[in-house]
Amino acid sequence: MTTSINIIQPDDWHVHFREDEMLKVVTKYSARVNRRCIAMPNTSTPITSSNQAINYKKLIESNSQSLNFEALIPCYLTDSLNIDDFTYALQNKIFVGGKLYPSNATTNSQYGVNDIKKIYNIFEILEKENSVLLIHGELNRDDIDIFDREKYFIDEELYQIRNTFKNLKIVLEHVSSDYGVDFVNSNQNIAGTITPHHMLLTKKDVFNDKINPHNYCMPIVKNEEDLISLRKYACSGNKNFFLGTDSAPHQISDKEQSKEIKPGIFSAPCSIELYAQIFEEENSLDKLEKFSSINGPNFYNFSINSDKISLIKKEWIVEDFTVYNDIKIKNFYAGKKISWKIQN
Ligand code: NCD
Ligand code: ZN
Repeated sequence: MTTSINIIQPDDWHVHFREDEMLKVVTKYSARVNRRCIAMPNTSTPITSSNQAINYKKLIESNSQSLNFEALIPCYLTDSLNIDDFTYALQNKIFVGGKLYPSNATTNSQYGVNDIKKIYNIFEILEKENSVLLIHGELNRDDIDIFDREKYFIDEELYQIRNTFKNLKIVLEHVSSDYGVDFVNSNQNIAGTITPHHMLLTKKDVFNDKINPHNYCMPIVKNEEDLISLRKYACSGNKNFFLGTDSAPHQISDKEQSKEIKPGIFSAPCSIELYAQIFEEENSLDKLEKFSSINGPNFYNFSINSDKISLIKKEWIVEDFTVYNDIKIKNFYAGKKISWKIQN
């Protein structure tokens, strides 16, 4: 039985650090594991300019409690961006790419894009700069079932984006369905990030006799077949799949006492350990490093990290909450046993 593994230090290609007090509380959990994280730009005022990106990066790094931690910031795409500033920021690596939120698909996506054709000029710039388009791949429309939003986005938008911008690198973020992973797998320039929770939960964990708001996230977790496909691709070593936790903290009051439950799962305190557990269950621990530390930088055209981390076989129980002053967040996997632990 394997009792310890050493892997190249991971990167997390999709995480939410929020702002203010919340940012101060959550950032260290991702920085304890990862060398680099893509910090999602869906803050209360979205990050749409180079100045905001510079300040947000500094704020995160100075709260990371780590000396060599790096936050990478994508631009929150809108149809009213300052194109010169955007291009300048891509060329100077201030933006790591552009993030498309179709409007009203998830938390703070009300500033997102209604008519995606209107930002095809931005995709053209990303393609020319050999940068990356990050996509929240869901269409939220009255006639679309919540479980089918990813499929509709692929059919009605993504095929066309791919066919129009043949050299554009695209990340379909937090892929959640069988349909989604198959689509990624059949496209050279399209990669997918996979979260731990989409490989652990199905819709029964959200909607049962009682609704569990802590397992409610976007894209919504789906069926057993979807979970099996996600595990298969993540654990395959396939170069187009890599780590993105989508760790997305919300105050407990926004999950439990609110009429509108905020979508998002906070997994940063245990995400690398959960990935290790999943890869072990799939008899694929030897593929973990590709998923966590190699495929991502290769796709984004970054160097591979030089440090290593160790994970050891050791049972521990995830704390119920992350609490500090006025902040109280329910942790993913609260109260449950995990069989791997990072060694710090
Ligand atoms: C994320 C958040 O809360 O910012 N929520 C989520 O359910 N995943 C946004 C996102 O990535 O969709
Ligand atoms: Zn997210």
